[in-house]
Amino acid sequence: MTTRPLNILLTGGTGYIGSHTAVVLQEAGHCVFIYDNFCNSDPAVSHTLQKITGQPFKTIQGDIRDTALLQQTLETHHIDAVIHFAGLKAVGESGTIPVDYYANNVQGTISLLQAMQAASNQPKTLVFSSSATVYGDPQYLPIDESHPTKATNPYGRTKLHIEEILGDLARADNTWRIACLRYFNPVGAHASGLIGENPNGIPNNLMPFVAQVAVGKLKQLNVFGDDYDTPDGTGVRDYIHVMDLAEGHLAALNYLGRSVGADSATNIHTFNLGTGRGYSVLEMVKAFESASARSVPFHIAPRRAGDIASCYASTALAAEQLGWTAKRDLQAMCDSSWYFQQNVSTSTGR
Ligand code: NAD
Ligand code: UD1
Repeated sequence: MTTRPLNILLTGGTGYIGSHTAVVLQEAGHCVFIYDNFCNSDPAVSHTLQKITGQPFKTIQGDIRDTALLQQTLETHHIDAVIHFAGLKAVGESGTIPVDYYANNVQGTISLLQAMQAASNQPKTLVFSSSATVYGDPQYLPIDESHPTKATNPYGRTKLHIEEILGDLARADNTWRIACLRYFNPVGAHASGLIGENPNGIPNNLMPFVAQVAVGKLKQLNVFGDDYDTPDGTGVRDYIHVMDLAEGHLAALNYLGRSVGADSATNIHTFNLGTGRGYSVLEMVKAFESASARSVPFHIAPRRAGDIASCYASTALAAEQLGWTAKRDLQAMCDSSWYFQQNVSTSTGR
């Protein structure tokens, strides 16, 4: 446990994962500040967060490439630690506008690090949102943190470049405390149904797509391939409840807090955040139908370019070092996602 409440800045804190983490951190007694340019989120999320926790959230509108504003934010609010969620994340789009992805994700992270270095209060604790996408096509399962990395698209390469930059920084200056968290497939929503994943346009990811079919917004699901080497032929992934993921960030911060001043051989740490259990596309459809009591029509479509057959995490390192494991099951993931989807459809008519 950390010994005192921290002032924590969340870049991208009004986004899907950042907003759930904001709730967990605030409820753990920390003071949360959000920094976001709202390119993929709604400024109203900070009011929703206040509604959920009963406490105000200070939200600063800004781009992570604005180093001066970031530095000023870090100093004004006496920030102790940063969780860096801000980034562009659509794999397909990253192939179309790769330079934008490098500028936003890589250049944005360098700007953040420069601001943290320059800030008079010297906040040098950082948790970074990485992704299981850095492992590429798995050579073995479950994937542990020493599995070779090989990103297969520009989005994944931005994550790998950032991990390398953070490694160089940690080696150059041992006063930094850094955790890279490699998320598997985050799904689900907060139990209030007030925050969750609500992508613009047609969803790329399975769970929001299934939810929109169940609610009647989309006609049917395309199952991308049923000829993979998996038990039912459809792709297998390690879906993790976003609230478990959020709690993983609190555990990582506590871990970095414990390692301050310790004679640690290394001051950068990489952890998988997953459940260790894979589910197929058809298993997900079945679970969602049961949670929603709706049918989810689907048809088998060709494989999606770049997809892999199976991917799930070894969770041993996070369990051992962070004392964290995912607790919520597939039913809870589908129930919360369905509850959120119904709320969104009622409140926005879409
Ligand atoms: P999200 O798009 O919902 O949230 C990202 C937030 O960052 C948004 O609020 C967006 O407005 C903000 N943002 C983007 N660029 C910015 C910039 N230049 N300056 C300031 N704010 C900016 O995404 P998410 O699902 O919450 O993902 C958070 C992080 O986790 C991302 O870095 C993503 O790559 C990573 N990640 C996500 C997943 C996933 O499946 N959701 C999986 C692995 C890793
Ligand atoms: C995708 C990204 C990955 C990112 C992850 C979490 C790609 C190639 N990879 O991974 O970088 O970290 O999201 O955000 O985009 N599926 C369907 N029909 C659909 C949508 C998905 O059958 O309409 C299948 C996919 O083929 C896959 C599974 O569902 O087997 C999960 O897909 P998705 O949610 O997009 O996640 P990933 O492919 O694991």
